Amino acid sequence: MIPRWLAVLVVAFLVAPVFAQDAEKKDHKVLGAKKCKICHNTDKQAGTHFKAWEESAHAKAFQTLLTDKAKESAKKHGIEDPSKDERCLACHTTKGSPTPEEGVSCETCHGAAEGYLNLHKKEGYEASVKAGMADLKSKKPEEIAATCMECHKADPLNDFHKEFKYDEFWAKIDHTKNTSPAILEKREKK
Ligand code: HEC
Ligand code: HEC
Ligand code: HEC
Ligand code: HEC
Repeated sequence: MIPRWLAVLVVAFLVAPVFAQDAEKKDHKVLGAKKCKICHNTDKQAGTHFKAWEESAHAKAFQTLLTDKAKESAKKHGIEDPSKDERCLACHTTKGSPTPEEGVSCETCHGAAEGYLNLHKKEGYEASVKAGMADLKSKKPEEIAATCMECHKADPLNDFHKEFKYDEFWAKIDHTKNTSPAILEKREKK
C-alpha cells in the first residue's frame, strides 16, 4: 500500500494545472488585493469577498513570517530572516505581487488581474477567462484541491504542516456565499 498522503501528492501532480500557471501564461501583472477591495467589499457592489479573505489565515500569511515562531522555525533550516527568504515567501505570499505583505491574496487563486480587472464586471466570465482570470468554475473540486496542495502539501520547510482535507479547509475560506444578493438575482434571471 502506498501511504495516503503520497497518493494525494501523486494525484496533485497529475491533475495540477497550477493557479500560478494559469496566471502566468499571458505574463499579466499581479495588481494586489486593494484593487479587488474597490468592488468586492460591499453588497452594494459585487459582494463581501474581500472581508471574508481579510479575516482568513491567507491574509496574514506574510505577517506570520515576522513572528518569533517563524524566526525560530527558520533558524532550524539555516534561514536568518524568513520574511526575506524566497523559500518561505513562496508559500506565504502571492507570486509576483507588488504587495507581498498581503500574503496569499486573491490573484494567487484567481490569476494575475492586469488583463481582466477592468473588463470582468461587464463582459462576463468567458471574456474574463480569455483575459487571464483562472477558470475555477470549470474545475472539479479535486482539481482545485490539487492547486491548494501546491502550498498545503507536506514540505520539509513547513514545520507546522497539517494534513490538508479539502472539504474542511475550503469551508473555512469559502467566500462564494459572500456574493451580493443583487448579483445572485441577476444570475438567476439569465
Ligand atoms: C470595478 C469593480 C470590480 C473590481 C475592481 C473587481 N471586481 Fe470582480 N467582479 C465585479 C462584479 C460586479 C462581479 C460580478 C459579475 C457578475 O456576475 O455580474 C465580479 C465578479 C468576479 C468574480 C466571479 C466571476 C464569475 O463570473 O463568477 C471573480 C472571481 C472576481 N470578480 C475577482 C476579482 C478580483 C480577483 C479582483 C481584483 C484583482 C476583482 N474581481 C476586482 C466587480 C469588480
Ligand atoms: C500560495 C500558497 C497557498 C495556496 C495556493 C493555498 N494556501 Fe491556504 N494557506 C497558505 C499558508 C501559507 C497558510 C498559513 C497562513 C498563516 O497562518 O500565516 C494557509 C492557511 C490556510 C488555512 C488556515 C489553516 C488553519 O490551520 O486554520 C486554510 C483553511 C487554507 N489555507 C485553505 C486553502 C484552500 C482551500 C486552498 C485552495 C483553494 C488554499 N488554502 C491554497 C498558503 C496557501
Ligand atoms: C486560496 C484561493 C483563493 C483566494 C485567496 C481567493 N479566492 Fe475567490 N474563489 C476561490 C475558489 C476556489 C472559488 C470558487 C470557484 C467556483 O467554485 O466557482 C472562488 C470564488 C470567488 C468568487 C465567485 C463567487 C460566486 O459568486 O460564486 C469571487 C467573486 C471571488 N472568489 C473573489 C475573490 C476575491 C475578491 C478574493 C480576494 C479578496 C478572493 N476571491 C480570494 C479561491 C480563492
Ligand atoms: C510548501 C509551502 C510552505 C513553505 C515552503 C513554508 N510554509 Fe509556513 N505554512 C504553510 C502552510 C500551508 C501553513 C498552515 C499550516 C498548514 O495547514 O500546513 C504554514 C504555517 C506556518 C506557520 C504557523 C502559522 C500559525 O500561526 O499557525 C509559521 C510560523 C510558518 N508557516 C513559517 C514558515 C517559515 C519560517 C518558512 C520558511 C522556513 C515556511 N513557513 C515555509 C506553507 C508553507
